[in-house]
Amino acid sequence: MDPTLLLLRWAHVLAAIVAMGGLFFARFALVPALSEIDTSTRDKIHDAIRRRWLPWVIGAITVLLASGLANFLLFNSRVKAEGWADGQWMRQTSYHALFGAKFLLALVAFYFASALVGRGQGTQWVRNDRAKWLSVTLGLTLAVVMLSGWMRQLHTGENVAREENGVRFDGDAGASMQDDRYQDGEAGANFRTPAADRSESAPEAGQQAVPSP
Ligand code: HEM
Repeated sequence: MDPTLLLLRWAHVLAAIVAMGGLFFARFALVPALSEIDTSTRDKIHDAIRRRWLPWVIGAITVLLASGLANFLLFNSRVKAEGWADGQWMRQTSYHALFGAKFLLALVAFYFASALVGRGQGTQWVRNDRAKWLSVTLGLTLAVVMLSGWMRQLHTGENVAREENGVRFDGDAGASMQDDRYQDGEAGANFRTPAADRSESAPEAGQQAVPSP
């Protein structure tokens, strides 16, 4: 297991949890609850929350950007160095297109998340209808998470224990198999077989690879 990748994954997932958890709480608990009290008290509460929540929003965005970009660059160099599908893996899986879509949606979500806790006049229109723009931001982050899971599954395959010659590889016993996973295992296996050579018996996407001799 690569400790750098694990740290990046922890940081990325935790920052996503903080950011999305805050949005969810604000949309479905805070804003409806505050709508029942008078305007001047509500504005005071919003301002008190804003000062405390702003550093968390900035921190989460920074960690998501840094860990996401590092993860993307490391994964790209690995696919290139190992020559997945003769260098065609990224194109065949549309990984870069999915990443581009995710990145753009995340940037728009970052804009709204910042505007919701900002106080500049230019973004006041967002805070004038908090419930609406919180819903939009949550929808964007939901799409981002779905795209992330899709990207991940492109190279990790299904969550199944591997079995060869009646031997089940899981837990520690599967450690060496796991190390081989990206080298010549099932990860991206469907894309290693040149299209012309694919027969009816070639593995479908997500199925076990036939190990190379
Ligand atoms: C709203 C902001 C974001 C959310 C909620 C989010 C969420 C996630 C989640 C849940 C995963 C899957 C993690 C795992 O299973 O280990 C992931 C993976 C990833 N994210 Fe993000 N992310 C966000 C922003 C970003 C940004 C800004 C970048 C790039 C700069 C980025 C790049 C990546 C990459 C490269 C992966 C790995 C995908 C793979 O396994 O192939 N993410 N993200």
